[in-house]
Amino acid sequence: MKVIQASDVVKDYGLNGTTVHALRGVNLAFEAGEFAAIAGPSGSGKSTFLHLVGCLDTVTSGNIAIAGSTVSAMSKTQLALLRRNSIGFIFQAYNLIPVLSCIENVSFPLTLLGVDKHDARERSLKALAEVGLSGMENRRPKEMSGGQQQRVAIARALVKEPALILADEPTANLDSKTGREILELMLRLNGSAGTTFIFSTHDAMVMEFARRIVHIRDGQVENEERK
Ligand SMILES: Nc1ncnc2c1ncn2[C@@H]1O[C@H](COP(=O)(O)OP(=O)(O)O)[C@@H](O)[C@H]1O
Ligand SMILES: [Mg+2]
Repeated sequence: MKVIQASDVVKDYGLNGTTVHALRGVNLAFEAGEFAAIAGPSGSGKSTFLHLVGCLDTVTSGNIAIAGSTVSAMSKTQLALLRRNSIGFIFQAYNLIPVLSCIENVSFPLTLLGVDKHDARERSLKALAEVGLSGMENRRPKEMSGGQQQRVAIARALVKEPALILADEPTANLDSKTGREILELMLRLNGSAGTTFIFSTHDAMVMEFARRIVHIRDGQVENEERK
């Protein structure tokens, strides 16, 4: 089963009366369990693609199917459920809630899903242990390093046990050693839980970790490498 099937995906943005062609007909499929990079220079359409796949935005034309269901045919409620249950998103800038502690940030998606407090806490502690942050659950984001904050963001994505995790330049704000540790962590989670990871990057070191690299440029797939 294809986790993602993107067919002829076009995304235009309107900007001050002009149109920006961010994606110009992208055809890409991803299988369950992949560990794949979307690589390309700044402005090539990486974030746009991940946002569309993550149902954070909608296509101008073309089609995206997730686990066989066409996104554009889903109701708002179905989309919200898909996003909450099946997709974890990791952002370059971590996007943690500053006033919440580490464990509150991680359990937040579970609260939205209506999981009871005790279960949410247990599952969040487990996710924090998986990313190597046991003992830090009461810290606020600003009391943690960039690498630790990105681990919290990974735990928050993991806690729902989604089939798919999308990570938009997850290491861009980290030094190369910490970036490497984050990639190693993602790779380990891909191996242990079989979670599909698709991440974007323009960093050759980060691409090294991927088993498949899709190069995009000017909103189009240029070529692919598989290892
Ligand atoms: N909300 C937006 N409004 C207008 N143009 C946008 C918007 N988001 C992205 N773009 C443009 O779309 C193109 C692709 O952007 P993006 O997907 O962010 O690329 P990348 O993540 O590879 O740097 C760029 O030209 C960018 O300026
Ligand atoms: Mg981007």
